[in-house]
Amino acid sequence: MNTEENIIKMDMGALGGGNASGEQILCLGIESSCDETSAAIVDSDRNILAHIIYSQIPEHQKYGGVVPELAARAHILAIDEVVRRTLATAGKTMNDIDVVAATAGPGLIGGVLIGWMAATGIAQATGKPLVAVNHLEGHALAPRLHAASAAGASLKNGVEFPYLLMLASGGHCQILLVRGVGRYELIGQTLDDSAGEAFDKVAKMLGLGYPGGPVVDARAANGNAARFKFPRPLCDKPGCDFSFSGIKTAARTMLDREPAPYSDGFINDFCASFQASVVDCITNRLANAMDDARVRAAMPKTLVVAGGVAKNSAIRAALERLAAEHGMLFAAPPMNLCTDNGAMIAWAGLENYRAGRVVDAPVAPRPRWPLTEL
Ligand SMILES: Nc1ncnc2c1ncn2[C@@H]1O[C@H](COP(=O)(O)OP(=O)(O)OP(=O)(O)O)[C@@H](O)[C@H]1O
Ligand SMILES: [Mg+2]
Repeated sequence: MNTEENIIKMDMGALGGGNASGEQILCLGIESSCDETSAAIVDSDRNILAHIIYSQIPEHQKYGGVVPELAARAHILAIDEVVRRTLATAGKTMNDIDVVAATAGPGLIGGVLIGWMAATGIAQATGKPLVAVNHLEGHALAPRLHAASAAGASLKNGVEFPYLLMLASGGHCQILLVRGVGRYELIGQTLDDSAGEAFDKVAKMLGLGYPGGPVVDARAANGNAARFKFPRPLCDKPGCDFSFSGIKTAARTMLDREPAPYSDGFINDFCASFQASVVDCITNRLANAMDDARVRAAMPKTLVVAGGVAKNSAIRAALERLAAEHGMLFAAPPMNLCTDNGAMIAWAGLENYRAGRVVDAPVAPRPRWPLTEL
């Protein structure tokens, strides 16, 4: 493991600057649910004092996806150093920290256990309160820490409750009405794969490596979206659920008819056509969600997209247009807070702490943990 190479040093507090409100709280957050070992310290004024991400992507790339046992071992090797560097970067010791938070699920259980045990150990040794963060809540609340427009412009403060959330990540694809901390109503979800899985699998079929989303996004920017005919599953049906497995199958079938190697032009057009189908599906389902009686009654002001797939430029642009058409604002976390990161966990920990949701009995990390069970 080459720690230096894999450490991503984030810009500290570059987007901070919420309004000072009462007593300052410092939260140390730890994330380890998949292939990033990350820690961050955030304060209650939305400043990120330190943020270290140790990315395991280079270690999994040769297998074309995350290998759970390798991920767990890499987390063990990295976790102490990541936490130590986070404290050192912020110029803080554990005594300065008010709350410790870590992902307690859902995710690859080997990795979740390592981050959770590290946080539990720190909290017990220092007597600090501990928050068990649902990883999906980390994604869901990230735009309350920092938010950006589709063009990437930083929006001044975090998004206010309630908001309509498109949560699109590697393992999940859901539309949620976010009413408050711990208060999530499921409006729609995928019946099979997540959007991130579709991006990763299509990239793999094209030999573009792992993770697939960023490279498909970049290739699509130079491609012709009208060249290949991908299906738009469920888009002719009412409701807010998704299905992406048919899009993957369509990709496989089209590629089976075409002998590899593929030219750059072919790959660009294929990525653009595939991505357009995902964008259409997400837009179609969200338009229905905006008409859902529960959503209308709650009157959310903002449409938010979060999770790793929220990095996608075409999805961000399409959802900003959709929001404007429906008289809503649009927000997404800045790029570095979309994929897994410690800052979103620290922020979710801080928000849960303020809501009194701290651990008062042993917690067993959970590989599955729906947001609606919070
Ligand atoms: N620009 C992009 N366009 C589309 N997808 C992207 C882009 N950047 C990243 N992704 C996708 O985001 C996913 C990773 O997101 P994230 O880190 O939130 O997932 P995860 O933590 O593995 O899953 P979950 O949060 O559901 O447990 C991958 O599938 C990746 O391909
Ligand atoms: Mg995630």
